[in-house]
Parts: sequence; C-alpha cells; structure tokens
Amino acid sequence: MKMPVTAYGHPILRKVARPVDKGDPDVNELIDNMFETMYHTNGVGLAAPQVNRSVRIFLVDATSYEKEYPEVKGFKKVFINPEVIRRGGKDWKMDEGCLSVPGINEAVQRPDEVTIHYYDQNWEAREETYSGILGRIIQHEYDHLEGILFTDHLSPLKKTLLRRKLRDIAHGKAEVDYRMLLPQIKKKQ
Ligand code: NI
Repeated sequence: MKMPVTAYGHPILRKVARPVDKGDPDVNELIDNMFETMYHTNGVGLAAPQVNRSVRIFLVDATSYEKEYPEVKGFKKVFINPEVIRRGGKDWKMDEGCLSVPGINEAVQRPDEVTIHYYDQNWEAREETYSGILGRIIQHEYDHLEGILFTDHLSPLKKTLLRRKLRDIAHGKAEVDYRMLLPQIKKKQ
C-alpha cells in the first residue's frame, strides 16, 4: 500500500524515532509499504517518519545510481534499529534532495564514512562501514530518525534564501506527483 509522504513542517519529521521490537508483527508490512511508496516516488531512500511512523527503520535502494557509481551495484537494504557508531573520513559536499522537501536540491557537507550497527529484515545484527555515495545516502536517511533534515545542514544564508520555498512545501504548494501529508497550520485571522 502506497503511503503519503510527510511534508516539510510536519512535526513527526522532528521527532527522534523509537526502536521497534523484534517480535513486532507490523514491521514487515510497514517495510513492504515503505518500499512501494519509495518506488512510486522514485526515491533512493525512505525513512519511516516520512510515512508518518516514528520508528527506527529506513530503506535504501541505490540501484538507480549504478551507471554513475558502479560501487552501488545491487544495493538494496533495510536498516532496522540503526545506530551510527562512528563517522570519519574527509568531509565532502554533494547535492541532496528529499521526498519530504520536494523541489529543493542543495549541496550538503558530510563526513565521507559512516559505521552503522543495525538489524536486517531477518533480525540479523550487522555492523558495516560505508563511504562515498552510500555513506551519504545512509547518513541522510539516518538523520530522519534523529529528527534532522538535510536543509538543517545548510548555511544560515541558504536557509534564509529557502524560507519561502519551505513554507510553500508546508502549505502543500510544491509540485509533486505523489501524495503528501501536510502539517496542520493555523490560519491567520
Ligand atoms: Ni530525506
């Protein structure tokens, strides 16, 4: 089932997501729905808060980048209860976008490497280190579980310049071909 994507300004995008329980019978269904939503929206990653669930799950399918970045070949993974253990390497900048912040692409500076502990969909514990494009996607998705959006990493000047666009997204004025869940905004009298 496709789910609407929470839009910039929705409070769930600002919450620290809670871990899921191993026996939780809803987890697999949520993951299926998240994959369906991610493919429908042409995303390479999707975190549960983006489908209005404040739990520590995100997905990555980077295979659409295979031409540009051969190292992502076949990379499709589910990260359950992830925790970043360390980051390292040189900081570098790359343009990022986000399904919750449509129409905005900005260069974000992040460390190259990230080591992450998580459970896969079979509840096998894993600890892996990623760098390059995968390190970047994983750090972007992980941020969602911590209530952080890529726009938070931009300079104060950039944020000021984007203020109007961000407000428009929150008001449902962004042009998207998928359903969004907007924040409830109090109308001025
Ligand atoms: Ni995002």
